[in-house]
Amino acid sequence: MTRVLLTRKLHDFALKELRKSYSIEVHSGKIPMPKKLLLQKIKDKDGLICFPYDMVDKDVIGAAKKLRAISTYSVGYDQIDVKAAKKKKIRIGYTPEVLTEATADLTFSLILDLLRRVTEGDRIIRKGEWRQIYGAYDYVGVDLEGKTLGILGLGRIGQAVAKRAAGFGMKIIYHNRKRASRKVESSTHAKFESMNGLLKKSDVISVHVPYTKQTHQLVDMKFFKKMKKDAFFVNTARGKIINEKDLVSALKKKVIAGAALDVFEFEPIGKNHPLTKIQNVVLAPHIGSSTVETRKKMAELTVKNLKLALAGKKPIYSV
Ligand code: DGY
Repeated sequence: MTRVLLTRKLHDFALKELRKSYSIEVHSGKIPMPKKLLLQKIKDKDGLICFPYDMVDKDVIGAAKKLRAISTYSVGYDQIDVKAAKKKKIRIGYTPEVLTEATADLTFSLILDLLRRVTEGDRIIRKGEWRQIYGAYDYVGVDLEGKTLGILGLGRIGQAVAKRAAGFGMKIIYHNRKRASRKVESSTHAKFESMNGLLKKSDVISVHVPYTKQTHQLVDMKFFKKMKKDAFFVNTARGKIINEKDLVSALKKKVIAGAALDVFEFEPIGKNHPLTKIQNVVLAPHIGSSTVETRKKMAELTVKNLKLALAGKKPIYSV
């Protein structure tokens, strides 16, 4: 019997589909699955369905004696040691494209929330602190129209964010390691900038690079200090791209005007995390791709990728 481990529960329809062909084991305890448990459970599995922030590292791959397929329910695959897996000829599938629009929508809702102080207002009302109505200076935010959005990483999601920003009358600049094609630049209205240019000119910076060794804590105090004092920072990519301590201190010291975050260094964060104590921050519980439609498509793709890989074929989206 082909054995498959899932580090979290997937949709019922997906589990049903998997059960038709495989013996499946679904982890139901602490998330992410503790590494010790993962090391033990992976030993006799042929396939693995994993999620962001799992620890499918060298040790886990090493402990997997029979593993032939890894399918991640995410576009990011930074939680997997790809090199170690490839060495053992383990095929890896992931779920890009289907979540691009949902993640761009979430990014844009964070930008709107941050600039118009929606969540902050909600907190004020819930605490019973909304006393005066329509005060000239009360809860004022800033316009999006005419502001410059700086996109760090003009990949699929970055491009989808740029298209939304154009609709709101924002100017769009971007920085990539490699400049995007003319076609992409013209369809997104995004102008290439050096990293320093991006930091200096942007009113809002939104991060859309993958998490890699090169992007580890790419955003730190030096980065924030180069931004405008009244600029905002948004991250819907991965938490470890940011030095979180530096972000907390940049916000407290008013080095930047505010931040909106859907991802964190370690997830989930609790109510005592330093970021929860700061007012000019909007926090979301890693919901970039979290819509009914998108999550269903991701589950379908995750199952298809796994099945193909277990059959010795290339997944639809293969790392
Ligand atoms: C992913 O798929 O990697 C994203 O983090 C989903 O929000």
